[in-house]
Amino acid sequence: MSFDPDAYDVAARFAADSHIGQTVKGAELPYLMHVTLVAAEVMAALQHEPVDDPDLAIQCALLHDTVEDTHVTLAEIEALFGADVALGVDALSKRDVPNSMEDSLRRVNASRREIRMVKLADRTTNMAPPPHFWSAEKRRSYRGQAQMILDALGDASPFLAARLRARIEAYGQYIED
Ligand code: NI
Repeated sequence: MSFDPDAYDVAARFAADSHIGQTVKGAELPYLMHVTLVAAEVMAALQHEPVDDPDLAIQCALLHDTVEDTHVTLAEIEALFGADVALGVDALSKRDVPNSMEDSLRRVNASRREIRMVKLADRTTNMAPPPHFWSAEKRRSYRGQAQMILDALGDASPFLAARLRARIEAYGQYIED
């Protein structure tokens, strides 16, 4: 699976600029780390599971939180990266609606495989040691959401589904059952 390093470069720089000053929840690390880890998961999957547009998957991985978490608009994303990337970033942006988790999964599930892969990779990356201030209840609900994502989207990528399944199991160590 080949991809264009220039496509990675331009999206990574845009993400770095957009998320500047933001940190990963519960840590002091720059937020850019999160999106580059998601891109790494996606690129690993693409080695085993070819898709129509690998650069779409990689750019959406890098840009997936720009609209949800920064001042960036979908119109800017579309102007810079094209309509397919904008559609993907839109699907990957949570909306402030009732049952936002179900709404998000429904919209991602209706998207191209490249986008469903990003969502699986996003949660795999997030199943890291939780912030110390998260209660056991919060951790349990976070693990439950991860299982919902796996159940809904796992078909999009057996490689990423296996990665997420393993992380969900390992997450048990952060929960006192
Ligand atoms: Ni994310």
